[in-house]
Amino acid sequence: MSSFYITTPIYYVNARPHLGHAYTTIIADTLKRFYALLGMDARMLTGTDEHGDKIVKAAAKEKKSPKEFVDGISGEFAALWKDLKIDYDQFIRTTDEEHKKSVQTLLQKIYDKGDIYYGEYGGHYCFGCERFYTEKELEDGLCPQHKTKPEYISEKNYFFKMSKYQEWLKQYILDNPDFIRPERYKNEVLAMLEGNVLEDLCISRPKSRLEWGIELPFDKDYVCYVWFDALANYISALGWGNSDDLTKFNTYWPGEHLVAKDILKPHGIFWPTMLKAADLPVYKHLNVHGYWLVKDTKMSKSLGNVVDPRFAAEHFGLDAFRYFLLRDMHFGSDASYSEEALISRINSDLANDLGNLFSRVLSMNAKYFAKEIPALGELSEDDEQIFASVDNALQNYIQLFKEVRFSQALEGLWEPIRLMNKYVDSQAPWALYKEGKQERLATVIRVLLENMYKIAVILYPVMPESSKKMQAQLGKEFSFHGKLMDDLLSCKIHLRTGQAVSETSNLFPRLEKPVEEKQAGKKQNSKNAKQNNAKEEKTETACIEFADFQKLDLRVGTIVAAEQHPDADKLLRFEVDLGEEKPRQIISGIAEFYKPADLVGHKVVVAANLPPRKLRGLVSHGMILTAEKGEHLSLLTSAAPNGAKIS
Ligand code: MSP
Repeated sequence: MSSFYITTPIYYVNARPHLGHAYTTIIADTLKRFYALLGMDARMLTGTDEHGDKIVKAAAKEKKSPKEFVDGISGEFAALWKDLKIDYDQFIRTTDEEHKKSVQTLLQKIYDKGDIYYGEYGGHYCFGCERFYTEKELEDGLCPQHKTKPEYISEKNYFFKMSKYQEWLKQYILDNPDFIRPERYKNEVLAMLEGNVLEDLCISRPKSRLEWGIELPFDKDYVCYVWFDALANYISALGWGNSDDLTKFNTYWPGEHLVAKDILKPHGIFWPTMLKAADLPVYKHLNVHGYWLVKDTKMSKSLGNVVDPRFAAEHFGLDAFRYFLLRDMHFGSDASYSEEALISRINSDLANDLGNLFSRVLSMNAKYFAKEIPALGELSEDDEQIFASVDNALQNYIQLFKEVRFSQALEGLWEPIRLMNKYVDSQAPWALYKEGKQERLATVIRVLLENMYKIAVILYPVMPESSKKMQAQLGKEFSFHGKLMDDLLSCKIHLRTGQAVSETSNLFPRLEKPVEEKQAGKKQNSKNAKQNNAKEEKTETACIEFADFQKLDLRVGTIVAAEQHPDADKLLRFEVDLGEEKPRQIISGIAEFYKPADLVGHKVVVAANLPPRKLRGLVSHGMILTAEKGEHLSLLTSAAPNGAKIS
């Protein structure tokens, strides 16, 4: 049986788990389930990264020993994964004895090969990042991540000859274009490898400065650099370097990694060169995703905008939450998290489309066939179209999942779901029933039930519990067998005529708006009502104060890129240069009036200080102004330079 091995990053235990960690872990769980569904021996690894300065400092802050501290937070990660029903096979901790042994084996192997040497090093050390920065990398003398002044440290250390593998790595990436994906991250790594820039990696810390780490096997005065230690988890978990039994390693390695863009460099550069130096095969794919943002800012404890995944799963339903995360983030790009977006996605796709299909078909089947699956008669063109569209969506879904394009896979799958709802409307089973066309009625219901079954199965990786429930409602017990997907795609009939099925299905109840927003909405409504009354009494309320007008930030810009919005016919996506550091993304509903290609280079006027707003999944940072009368619409323009303010 072929195998599949997926890993998450091992998370630092200096902070409590949040939505970002949960996203990566849910994706890993989804992929494990997906490959298991395809009949593979699928394995998932997660865990915690427990050595290094950061941890020592965080422990000291809570007046705990490092060990006591790491046990606590590592336990919180494990508890969250249990509540989120993550189906991992192994939870590794870098403080595990087996892991320590593997790291030492790896170090010794590379040392014996002559790729680790002892040397003097002076550099700007950021304790937050646990790494040295070169002068060039600092921004105004500060760490680019933490905005704090690094300490200049000069000491003797051990170095890994990473530079020796620069050309090999570059060629490997060029020869294996999906080694790092999506493509933009491959390009980022290639850019890091351009020219003669790769420095050797300092892989030790003197014990005089830091004791909380794995001792170097060839010098007991040093511990191993935390990243070198951490990356080795992916193979130490399989027994490499700590056991004579290499069965697990030989079965699952090389595997696949899942990370966010923050840790692209260690995974894209350090890790493959470490593996190469140790004469081990490199991983199959590095899958890199973007950040979940809250109101366009990265979540952080200090900003107080950290989303609690446990609350979201409990409140909105675990499967619905998973669906939202997979559907709303285009893998690789950043996405915005808000309860409003989550509710709207769940209501439209799950309650309206999928949930509605199940409940209406099952209740019709109960009414017309006493809950028993009816027989399939002769198929019409419309029936064939349903089968074809489901099979086609399933095939695309499988391919897109393999390319980690989850959002597109789900988007495609919803086409036949919507088509089936339309099919119910156009076939009108209630009319067939009235007219006594029993055989045709049976066929229509059976076509729906069979195709609902296929949808239920393929949704297992994304919504495991709901998938099982949907299958149970169709009288099927969920079980894995290697050929399940092949069977699903090669035959039309999977259900048994006469089998009793559920008469109702309340899978995804419609969700209400978040509490605070409802209240805000009410306040807004009563404010509007008051304003309307006032309007009737005093017509001059139509005027605004000059000070209010001055609040508008209207600016001139040039459209530098334009394209159709991927999810909406009426919308176009622009990048507009407003003389700022980067062009802004603006979404505008003018697709009816303009072709995107005609607008590149066009000067426009933009309302620049509107709050960012998400339009069909893409965030718009401002509004392009137009003038409108009747059917006529044209863009406002100005010859002034980009960034000029209109007043
Ligand atoms: N310990 C290292 C990883 C070592 S792996 C050999 C580390 N840990 S971390 O706790 O900082 O986790 C970083 C990872 O958490 C990201 O790569 C990503 O998987 C996840 N996320 C943390 N915040 C995130 C968002 N805001 N959005 C999406 N994922 C994020 O780095």
